[in-house]
Amino acid sequence: MTHSVALNFADGKTFFISVHDDELLLDAAIRQGLTLPVDCRQGVCGTCKGQCEIGSYQQEYVDEEALSTRDLDERKILACQTRVSSNAVFYFDHDSALCNASKSLKIATTVTAIELISETIAVLHVDASSHKYPLNFLPGQYARLQIPDSQDWRSYSFANRPNPTNQLQFLIRLLPNGVMSNYLRQDCKIGQTIFMEAPLGSFYLREVKRPLVFIAGGTGLSAFLGMLDNIAEKPDAPPVYLYYGVNQEMDLCEQERLLEYSSRIPHFNYQPIISQASKSWTGKTGYIQDHLNRDQLAEQAFDMYLCGPPPMIEAVKDWLEDHDLQDYRIYSEKFLQSNTVNRL
Ligand code: FES
Repeated sequence: MTHSVALNFADGKTFFISVHDDELLLDAAIRQGLTLPVDCRQGVCGTCKGQCEIGSYQQEYVDEEALSTRDLDERKILACQTRVSSNAVFYFDHDSALCNASKSLKIATTVTAIELISETIAVLHVDASSHKYPLNFLPGQYARLQIPDSQDWRSYSFANRPNPTNQLQFLIRLLPNGVMSNYLRQDCKIGQTIFMEAPLGSFYLREVKRPLVFIAGGTGLSAFLGMLDNIAEKPDAPPVYLYYGVNQEMDLCEQERLLEYSSRIPHFNYQPIISQASKSWTGKTGYIQDHLNRDQLAEQAFDMYLCGPPPMIEAVKDWLEDHDLQDYRIYSEKFLQSNTVNRL
């Protein structure tokens, strides 16, 4: 049996596809020329997330970090795991243009610098100029990098904007025994080749019209840096509040760059928050949601972007619900740790 399915996108466009009973929604869309953003195809990364507005469906494997219980209650779906059993309507919270843009490229890059900022954070710089044209991506999107001499790939958000010479940066959390972490600590050398697949993901800055609240957990900061560079070029930028939560002081990175935004963005409010602060730390401590200001957020409609570990994202969403805030839009990207996906 075949079902008629409408796919709605944030830019107001609707595409109609047919989906066979035995077919995954993602495969049906691709078969009919609509390349939804995709990465793992295993129900883990959440990149293909949408929402069922009308109709019935079943999902195969859904990792709890890709979709929370709240997400499932809200009929959020992963297109790579969804089969429909009636005519249906799905909504994807990104512009339809991202579908065709999401045809990613595989590119050989060359390591140009590796900064071990702390025991837990590295900044990897690569030159992707083997690709002759400027690589198009939206700040907030991510790339998959192959660990040299292995079949392992890991995903990391771009930490800078597209540029004519394709010089790219990534903030990378160093795990005690991660394959990329071990490579960066022990084997990474200037001039080595790292294969990259990009661009990926549907997390990006939408039209900027209302105050922005950016919530970054750990190396989730990476996704916001290119966005902030874009905002800094807007003469009429609205207020931007950046909350950046890490475990310890040594995990804070790109501090100079963040402080510079204060002079480039007229109403930029930056708050680093440390959950396991040392005695010498005089700034804010605890978790990000402990420092959100309900009265300030209730004054005006706002757009909130969250990027970081799933518990942080769920804690902030709980806080928003508990504080009865109504007029906001929310966009999130979870950094997951698994065999296939690792943006921590
Ligand atoms: Fe569907 Fe990763 S592509 S969850």
